[in-house]
Amino acid sequence: MSEVTSDLEKEHNAILLMLDILEKISDNMDQEIDIPDNHLDGLSRFFTIFADKCHHGKEEQLLFPTLKDKGVDMNKEPFASIFEDHKEGKIYISNMLDAIDSYKTTKSGQSKFIQNARKYINLLQQHIEKENQDMFRITNEYLDETELVSLKHKFDDFENNVIGGGIHEQLHEMINELEDYYLN
Ligand SMILES: [Fe+2]
Ligand SMILES: [Fe+2]
Repeated sequence: MSEVTSDLEKEHNAILLMLDILEKISDNMDQEIDIPDNHLDGLSRFFTIFADKCHHGKEEQLLFPTLKDKGVDMNKEPFASIFEDHKEGKIYISNMLDAIDSYKTTKSGQSKFIQNARKYINLLQQHIEKENQDMFRITNEYLDETELVSLKHKFDDFENNVIGGGIHEQLHEMINELEDYYLN
């Protein structure tokens, strides 16, 4: 496994963990257990900044153009459905954010939140499995050592520009707190 795919895999593992937390939060909401505002804010920040902007950004803006240059057809599988999954995921995130707003202000929006959270969890779990298998295999097959090293540098620069070191730390701290609270 190259540094490029292991970097993405680490992020997939963080996303999978947050999906488990999201599932627990949705189940609690379904049972009318109160969800603290800061937990909902943590979810919002993680899925918009870390998962969508940073992680999917690295894939769409850096990895896919590099593979395309090497002759990989982005209109074929697995890439055709990977793009569609990213688009579909943005819709669920935006619906969850709306529902979180309603929940925080008027304690409404629970069913919208739960429905969209469950669709999002299902989508991303399958999406990550597809990427861990097919996308990683293609990446390591088509790119040579020099290209992989240069792509990893671009990933690092992108991450610093999009979220920066301080925020990355904060997000990881938040994940640990939510993990302790909901899963342990
Ligand atoms: Fe993806
Ligand atoms: Fe991914």
